[in-house]
Amino acid sequence: MITQQQCQNATILIVDDQMTNILLLESILQNAGYMHVHSTQDPTQVVSLVKDVKPDLICLDIRMPQINGFQVMGQLKIIQKETYLPILVLTSEEDRETRLRALESGAKDFLHKPFDKIEVLMRIRILLEASLLHKTISEQKDSLEETVRLRTQELKETQLEVVHRLAQAAEHRDNETGSHIVRMSHYAVVIGRACNLSEEDCDTLFHATPMHDVGKLGIPDKILLKPGKLDADEWEIMQQHTVIGAQLLSNSHSPILQMAELIALTHHEKWDGSGYPNKLSGEDIPLVGRICAIADVFDALSSRRCYKEPWPLEKTLQEIRSLSGIHFDPRLIEMFEELLPVIIDIQRTHSDIDTPQFNLVESSYLA
Ligand SMILES: [Fe+2]
Ligand SMILES: [Fe+2]
Repeated sequence: MITQQQCQNATILIVDDQMTNILLLESILQNAGYMHVHSTQDPTQVVSLVKDVKPDLICLDIRMPQINGFQVMGQLKIIQKETYLPILVLTSEEDRETRLRALESGAKDFLHKPFDKIEVLMRIRILLEASLLHKTISEQKDSLEETVRLRTQELKETQLEVVHRLAQAAEHRDNETGSHIVRMSHYAVVIGRACNLSEEDCDTLFHATPMHDVGKLGIPDKILLKPGKLDADEWEIMQQHTVIGAQLLSNSHSPILQMAELIALTHHEKWDGSGYPNKLSGEDIPLVGRICAIADVFDALSSRRCYKEPWPLEKTLQEIRSLSGIHFDPRLIEMFEELLPVIIDIQRTHSDIDTPQFNLVESSYLA
């Protein structure tokens, strides 16, 4: 419900080339308590004035020099598409054609000059009520949308935090530092972009990659942390981290968890079909699985683990290259080599304190 006070607080713009008409209408409105009445005699200024004073109603003369009221309404069409802005046409023309044309051009109502004071105020009040009601609804809608946007953002952030902590828990059990999953996510995104994945998919990939080994949470300590080589039975159990991870992440509606499930299941598949758990080969292995396989192995070789020293860049690359078409998708390996400067930059930015950084310039590989 719009109150009289709200109406009196509204902004009204009067457009008329005759100053006497403006003064008359202004005094009627001011005597009725309206506090924000603007006016102009120049119809060419209406559009910029509307942007400046943001009126809730325009009282518009039809017959004016330069451009007439119909043309002004034509100019206001674009603004009226975005906001509800009623126009009350003031005309001395009595004919039916002018009245119809005014309504067709976007006028909400019209008044004949000379006008009756009471009628003017009543018509203005009706139009203002509609305009202010519209404004209130639109403000409520905006604030509701903003609340929903903030809640969605909060929800997404909480979801990401839980997901990252879960990934860290798995890495921690494996005696690995948190930076392995950080570097790996960055490597995966860089390769993903080179494969023309959309930015949205790259973002999902970034958050899904850290969960590739989440299934290690289900592997017994005596196998996961065994210092020596695993025997055949232990190796069998160890391989199950892919299946366990996928199960942990299954049946989610979240695109991140869905992609994470796929990565957990397929990051140890090999291009030649000799990987696990399903011995998939070639492009039967989902792209994100193939990408993560390279990112994971590259980082494992090039960083310090409890059982090994970090390999130098040249040796790491030789190994990766020699496994192209065997372990890794050869097309992705070609891309990876081209992306090397970026990869090394990521390695440098997210290095562990005790992991040496590669230097592209000094590397004999590129020298
Ligand atoms: Fe793994
Ligand atoms: Fe890993």
